[in-house]
Amino acid sequence: MKINDMNSEKLYQVLTVSDLKKIAQSAGLHLTPDLEVLKPLLLEKQHILDIGCGYGRALPWLLQHTKAHITAIEKAPNLFRSALSLQDSRLELINGDFLHINIPKSFDCALSLWTGIADFSSVEIKQFAKKITTMLTQDGILCIDYIEAMPKNALRSDQHEDMLHVTGLGKAEGYVYRPPFDKLRNLLESEGLQYKETLHYNAGGSDKVIYIFCI
Ligand SMILES: C[S@@+](CC[C@H](N)C(=O)[O-])C[C@H]1O[C@@H](n2cnc3c(N)ncnc32)[C@H](O)[C@@H]1O
Repeated sequence: MKINDMNSEKLYQVLTVSDLKKIAQSAGLHLTPDLEVLKPLLLEKQHILDIGCGYGRALPWLLQHTKAHITAIEKAPNLFRSALSLQDSRLELINGDFLHINIPKSFDCALSLWTGIADFSSVEIKQFAKKITTMLTQDGILCIDYIEAMPKNALRSDQHEDMLHVTGLGKAEGYVYRPPFDKLRNLLESEGLQYKETLHYNAGGSDKVIYIFCI
């Protein structure tokens, strides 16, 4: 099963930037606790890739707290347009699909924040991992914010193991792929990534995790 295009059309192109900002606020993500926990790993990075940057939530923090050149890619045109309002000589914004676009650069850090990895099914996670291994430098890291708790508005799908159907967001709907960590790890490691460590943080009263992988 593939979910990435479906989520793009039925979820991210239906939700407005203001809807997403409200959801980020209610999850405590507007205060960027995810980036604060990543800070020691990001400080010395030179080239950071923000995969699925959305409306650009993480970008002001990255520009302010790191010295890196930031490349941010976003598939949904409505969210990309909002991110475009951020202008900086260290920032390059790309509107496109990470799985299909060629970005001829290497990165010492790639970010998939706010559970963005859940927009990719098992087949798509393998594509994601295969691609990222070709883009990371030898000392590069991939930081994956993961969804452990059952998300609000999500129903378990009867047909697909580990797949949740997200409803209750007005006309927007989508799928969340949430395998147990060991399964996610196997998918990523089968394409050449290696698990390194887990970081813990709290957002809006909920305990959250970020997994760090390297090549
Ligand atoms: C849960 S949001 C996270 C937004 C952002 N990373 C943040 O932390 O605020 C996931 C984002 O990834 C984008 N996305 C999903 N699949 C993508 C793909 N294949 N290529 C580029 N962006 C993608 C979605 O459009 C959405 O904006």
